[in-house]
Amino acid sequence: MIHTQKWLLLLIACLFTYLDPSVVTADSSYPLQTKYPDTIMYKAETAEKIIAFTFDDGPDNVHTPAILDVLKKHHVRATFFLLGPRVEKYPKMVQRMNEEGHVVGNHTYWHPELTETGVANMKWEIEKTEQAIHQVLHKKTQLFRAPYGALNDSLVRALPDLGYRAVGWSIDSEDWKGLSKERIKQQVINNLHPGSIVLMHSVGDVHGTVEAVDELIPYLKDAGYQFVTIPEMWPVLYK
Ligand code: NI
Repeated sequence: MIHTQKWLLLLIACLFTYLDPSVVTADSSYPLQTKYPDTIMYKAETAEKIIAFTFDDGPDNVHTPAILDVLKKHHVRATFFLLGPRVEKYPKMVQRMNEEGHVVGNHTYWHPELTETGVANMKWEIEKTEQAIHQVLHKKTQLFRAPYGALNDSLVRALPDLGYRAVGWSIDSEDWKGLSKERIKQQVINNLHPGSIVLMHSVGDVHGTVEAVDELIPYLKDAGYQFVTIPEMWPVLYK
């Protein structure tokens, strides 16, 4: 009888552990954010309905202006992670982003997988693109997004000395796969949560992105979401 009670208690304890939301912490799927919360963010730790749209790999003179037009139409500001050679080729597009209140971040020069190439290469990549951005905007960005989101402890630990913080994402729109507007919308809506950072692209096979953004913005606003840039979302950047 005592034996049975012990098992019963153990079973109840297990059930409570399983059901207790504090056991599964909100950011448990982002170990680097848990370890370095001031240096890397995949999503905002908040119950507030805020969301940040981010666009990688630009600028160009086809998709990027279309995205800027649709953001302007809806009075939404976003964050763009830019590649050095494209900044050099399309400086006017970078100026336009800045003039329209968007935030510009660094997305390396040659888009390498940094977990393969290492810290020294990351420094070169970041500094080369930093020069390109500085040439156009005469200012430096603190925000860095690693190509493919590929980072590890040593790369993240090297960022503060370079004056950067890394930005990941909690929702991959998968627009880079050339998905339709509807598929991109579903991808975002199905994964929506307070403090979402959405990964999209302003270059490549992204024909669905502009239309998806045009429809997602009113949908998300109706759902009570407020659009913010990454610096508006990350307390360490506005404190
Ligand atoms: Ni990229």
